[in-house]
Amino acid sequence: MIFSARIDFAPARNSLDLERESLRAKGSAFFDLSQSNPTKVGLGFETDRITRAFANQANALYYPEPKGLANARRAIAEHFPPGRGEFPNVDPERFLLCASTSEAYSYLFKLLCNPGDSILIPRPGYPLFDQLAALESVATIPYRLEYSHPSGWTIDIDSITQALAGKGGASPKAIVLINPNNPTGSYIHREELSRIAGLCAERSIPIIADEVFYGYDLEAREDRRSLFGFEECLTFTLDGFSKRLCLPQLKLGWIYVSGPENEARKAMEALELVADSFLSAGAPVMNAAAELLEGERELRALVKARMAKVLSVYRSVLEDETSVHRLLRCEGGWTALVQSPRYAEEESLSRELLRREGLYVHPGFFFDMEKEAFFAFSLIIRPEEARAAAEKFRSFFDRYDGN
Ligand SMILES: Cc1ncc(COP(=O)(O)O)c(C=O)c1O
Repeated sequence: MIFSARIDFAPARNSLDLERESLRAKGSAFFDLSQSNPTKVGLGFETDRITRAFANQANALYYPEPKGLANARRAIAEHFPPGRGEFPNVDPERFLLCASTSEAYSYLFKLLCNPGDSILIPRPGYPLFDQLAALESVATIPYRLEYSHPSGWTIDIDSITQALAGKGGASPKAIVLINPNNPTGSYIHREELSRIAGLCAERSIPIIADEVFYGYDLEAREDRRSLFGFEECLTFTLDGFSKRLCLPQLKLGWIYVSGPENEARKAMEALELVADSFLSAGAPVMNAAAELLEGERELRALVKARMAKVLSVYRSVLEDETSVHRLLRCEGGWTALVQSPRYAEEESLSRELLRREGLYVHPGFFFDMEKEAFFAFSLIIRPEEARAAAEKFRSFFDRYDGN
C-alpha cells in the first residue's frame, strides 16, 4: 500500500453521491437546499471592500511570527468586547492565528494527542471532524445529543461520563464542544457547561470549543454560554472569518487559549511550536483583519435577518396542520433540521428528491442522526429560493407512492 492509513476515512460513495455526479457530468442543473457556502448565496462583503482592505504596502514584508501578526491579533481581540459570554479578560497574546478553524483542529490534535489517541465529539455532528481527526491518526468517540420537542437538544452527560471513564477503549485526550453544533444548532447551556467543566477539571481533560456559529442565534435559550475565555479548565476556543465574516475564501482562523494560568501559558508555548512549523496565516489577510472586522456588525445583522426570514418560510410551507413534516427547534447556526416521514430510507428519499425534483439536500445519516428521516435545510439561501425548494420538497412527499 502506497498511502498511509490516515487517508482511509472516506466512506463508500452512496447512491445520492452517484446521482449527483451523474447530473453534474450531464451538465443538468439542480438546487442545493443544503448550501452553506456564503459566497454562493449573495452574502459577504462587496468585492471593492475586500480589494481595499488588501491594498496594503505592509503585505510586501514577511514577519514569521508563530502566533500571527500582533496587529491582527489586537484587532480580533477588540472584537470580543468585555462581557461577551461571561469571561471578560481578552488578551491578544492568547490568540494564535492560522488559515482556518479546520486547521486549528489539526494544530490542537497535534498538540494533545499521540497517534491512536481519541477525542470526544458530538453526535449528531458534522462529518468534517472525523476526517480532521483521522488525518492526525486520532480516533473519535461520540457523545450523544438528545432531542425532545419543542424544548430542543440537550447533551447526554452520561454518555460523556462513560467515555471519559474509558468505557469502550482508552480514555479520550480532549472533548470537542461545538457551540452551537452543526447541524443541530444547539448551544451549550449553563447547566451542561458546569457539569462538563467539572468532569474535565477532575480529569485534566482540555475542552476544544468551536464557536464559529456562536453569533448566529435564532431560537436560542437564555441560558446559552460561550466558552470564549473560559477559566475553569484548559480551553481552546476556535473561530474565524469563514462564518463570522462569511469570508471562507480569505483563510483566517484562530485559537484562543484560556484556563488556569499555568496550564494556559504552557499550552500557548507548545502551540507556538506547532504553529512555528507552518506559519500558515497569510500576511495580506492578517493586515486586512482590522478593516474587515469593521464590517462585522452590519454583515451579522444582514445574515441574521436572512436566517430568520428563511426559517419562517420553512415553517410556513412545512408546518400547517395537514403537513407531514416538522422543523426541529433551531437555536442557531446556518441549518434547520426537518423531520419527515420515513416512507423509504433517507438515502433513497434524498436520491429521488434529486432525480425527480432537482433538489439536493443532506439526509440525516450524513450527520449520524439516530433515527430517520431528517433533512438539513440551509438557512442562508435566498428566501424566494428557499420557498420554491420547500414547496417542491413538500409536494414530493405529498405525492410519494413508493415508485
Ligand atoms: C462547526 C464548524 N466548525 C468549523 C468548520 C470549518 O470552518 P473553516 O472554514 O474555518 O475551516 C465548519 C464548516 O462548515 C463547521 O460547520
